[in-house]
Amino acid sequence: MKPLGPIPPGYGAIDGELEIGGKHATHWVEQAGRTPLFVYSRDLIERRLAALRAAMPERIKINYAIKANSFAPLLEHISKFCDGLDIASGGELEIVRATGFDLNRVSFAGPGKRDVELRQAIADGVTLNLESENEARRALAIADDMGVVPRLAVRVNPDFALKGSGMKMGGGAKPFGVDAERVPDLVREIVGAGCDWRGLHVFTGSQALSAEAIIAMQAQVLDLAHRIMSEVGTALPKLNMGGGFGIPYFAGDEPLDIEAVGDALRRRLGELPDALTDTELYIELGRYLVGEAGVYLTRIIDRKESYGETYLVTDGGLHHQLAASGNFGTVVRRNYPLAIASRFGSEPEEIANVVGCLCTPLDRLADKAHLPRAEVGDLVAVFCAGAYGASASPSAFLGQGPAAEMLV
Ligand SMILES: Cc1ncc(COP(=O)(O)O)c(C=O)c1O
Repeated sequence: MKPLGPIPPGYGAIDGELEIGGKHATHWVEQAGRTPLFVYSRDLIERRLAALRAAMPERIKINYAIKANSFAPLLEHISKFCDGLDIASGGELEIVRATGFDLNRVSFAGPGKRDVELRQAIADGVTLNLESENEARRALAIADDMGVVPRLAVRVNPDFALKGSGMKMGGGAKPFGVDAERVPDLVREIVGAGCDWRGLHVFTGSQALSAEAIIAMQAQVLDLAHRIMSEVGTALPKLNMGGGFGIPYFAGDEPLDIEAVGDALRRRLGELPDALTDTELYIELGRYLVGEAGVYLTRIIDRKESYGETYLVTDGGLHHQLAASGNFGTVVRRNYPLAIASRFGSEPEEIANVVGCLCTPLDRLADKAHLPRAEVGDLVAVFCAGAYGASASPSAFLGQGPAAEMLV
């Protein structure tokens, strides 16, 4: 038997079935008219943001990185509670534009921005988090050609990483940002060229559950920003300190202690050097805001035995749940939180493998899990599906197509 990850708070049972947003899982499937289906809860998103705001110092502004989940109704909803949005492509810019969000509060990071993406972002008043000197010069030339003053920030490749993070994005050679020691020269160059100078962006990693690691990283980011700006001798209007706040996916994972992070940051802000007193400070979060607010529902379409093992074969799979299948940057596959939604709260009776409908051994949603006995027609719920589910899975694989999505 292999353990399942912890079911996030906020989910209960009604009449022996999983409840999401006050209704049975089957209710939402009937509404959608099909499985597989992602159900995202407005209420859980709002509660998450309220708790985060309460824990963080008032001065800290919160950006949502839409790569985690850009489903339009969810984006419209969450953007009401965020100070800004972070995008990573021209495609994401289109999605944000359609929501009517103020594009002056959007920043665009990501290596390899095409000229056409730079042009559109500049035209829309989006802040470009520049990833290289070359990109800076292309952006300045495009803005010059358009006769527009571009809003420019520099993404720094810091000389440290976020300890214990699932994905490290700083510390050593990286395709992201400009190496810290070269940032002062680049800032002088773009400020000298007359851009609308928007500040620095430092993103060191993601999916950290240790408050200690996040506290240390935030302190390092503030020091680094101060060092860079002291060398340049220019004011720092804005510092995007990155994020990295993780959520518990696997057995034994403990939730991040955001109170501890907020308290340490509050103390730290009390001791900031004068040069940073007027700087707007942002954190940038994706999965922490939406991950636990989403559930993926998929129906069991076959139940079979093979050499003594039970397989529950569903109509979903890795084409919507790449991360839960263990194929999105994990070294050792572990089970996400998962349940038989139509028998929620029933006692586990058997060890079963839950697999998807794709013809590959990679397509596994739960490995040797202890579950209530489930039959064809039962619904399976995969939790922590609100981030990097639909937005980060190969839905076109084997001609399967995307899952339905709804915000409830
Ligand atoms: C620049 C940047 N911002 C934000 C995020 C969002 O990370 P997470 O969803 O872990 O908060 C990422 C993730 O890779 C990123 O690269």
